[in-house]
Amino acid sequence: MIELNSSKKFSGSITIPSDKSISHRSAILNSVAFGEAIISNFSNGNDCLSTLNVLSKLGVQIDIENKNEFLNLRITGNGYEGLTRPNSPLDAGNSGTTTRLMSGILSSLSFETTISGDNSLNSRPMKRIIDPLSLMGAEIISNDNKAPLTFKPSNLNGINYEMNISSAQVKSCIMLAGLNSHSETVIKQPSLSRDHTERMLEGMGANIKTSKLDIIIEPSKLNSVDLTIPGDISSASFWMVAALIHPNSNITLKNVGMNPLRTGIIDILKKMGGKIIIEDERIEANEPVANIKVMSSNLNGVEISGEIIPKLIDEIPIIIIAASIANGATYIKNAEELRYKETDRLLAMSKFLEKSKIEHTLYDDGIKIFGNGQFIGGEFDTYDDHRIAMSVAISSIIAKNKTVINDHEVASISYKNFYKHLEQLKFD
Ligand code: S3P
Repeated sequence: MIELNSSKKFSGSITIPSDKSISHRSAILNSVAFGEAIISNFSNGNDCLSTLNVLSKLGVQIDIENKNEFLNLRITGNGYEGLTRPNSPLDAGNSGTTTRLMSGILSSLSFETTISGDNSLNSRPMKRIIDPLSLMGAEIISNDNKAPLTFKPSNLNGINYEMNISSAQVKSCIMLAGLNSHSETVIKQPSLSRDHTERMLEGMGANIKTSKLDIIIEPSKLNSVDLTIPGDISSASFWMVAALIHPNSNITLKNVGMNPLRTGIIDILKKMGGKIIIEDERIEANEPVANIKVMSSNLNGVEISGEIIPKLIDEIPIIIIAASIANGATYIKNAEELRYKETDRLLAMSKFLEKSKIEHTLYDDGIKIFGNGQFIGGEFDTYDDHRIAMSVAISSIIAKNKTVINDHEVASISYKNFYKHLEQLKFD
């Protein structure tokens, strides 16, 4: 439990912690590549540690050096064939990305494995990966299409697969299975989602082609690649909204990953009237990176729907915080996927708004928020979801009364130093 108070001023500079999605992929892909890779600035969030734990159990040699808020890794990969049979089930903790990406690999191995996680993870939908993997020839035993998932030894064939949801985890899972199969795989996406896997695979010599919504991947051997992980725009988004809603703020966010399939949050906050300046744009690890300046702004409500949703899916809880302070209504549609994250994030945020006496309407696939310009504070639950915890924490900086967050530590799933950084930016 943590108690948070508002602050008179919100300013300073933060180096954003490493991107969770890119960190997972850097470790997983290099573990099934050939050679030695040095990964700098790997995320120290619990989800990425779960990935390292799973890979180590599969016999991958990973040397870890702790460097302040980041990790440096040396990973020695020996291809898919280099993985060895673990002596107990693999524990993915709270991490959906670990489970779904690793499933692509586990389904193609010559030995049996089981992957499982905490209660939240074991209640999340896995049919979305079980279906395509089974079509490729995988034999998977599940708990009614949920984890634990057991993979029997299988030989996979490529598939031509039309996805019915836009999901980077699902497409990455199929790509990882396709790489270790006997024929070409074609994936058709309903709309674009983050393409970190595609970018990294290109850099590792995979035979992969992308055209508009299609991905074509041939069975390929990967070469290890050294990477420096950029900062996570999803983590940066908490500070962006904090600076926008605070009346006396000016902050600089350093080293933010700017993959165009992740920057929906910036487009929307700018559309709401947010003063956001992008500086010092550069490329790192085949990904665009920049510094971002954000200042106090008067926000207006907007509609958020359609193809932008996958580009800001993880940022919707914090967008709801911005919408609560904006003038007029913000209407978020086509976001049903939020109901299947670490918790039902639409419901969790609706409960927060209800307690905060902010008028809103909840829909199956979205929410409409009528901004009222203030938070009143109070005691809130996180529903064991890191992004709910951090979104509520941001409301505290302008709340009339103290904000109490139960189980606040869950933020460390993606952001170990979140509360430390929050205090650093507050001035009275
Ligand atoms: C992720 C993809 C998204 C996102 C998750 C991370 C990834 O999930 O919500 O936090 O790293 O591929 P979906 O692929 O299920 O949309």
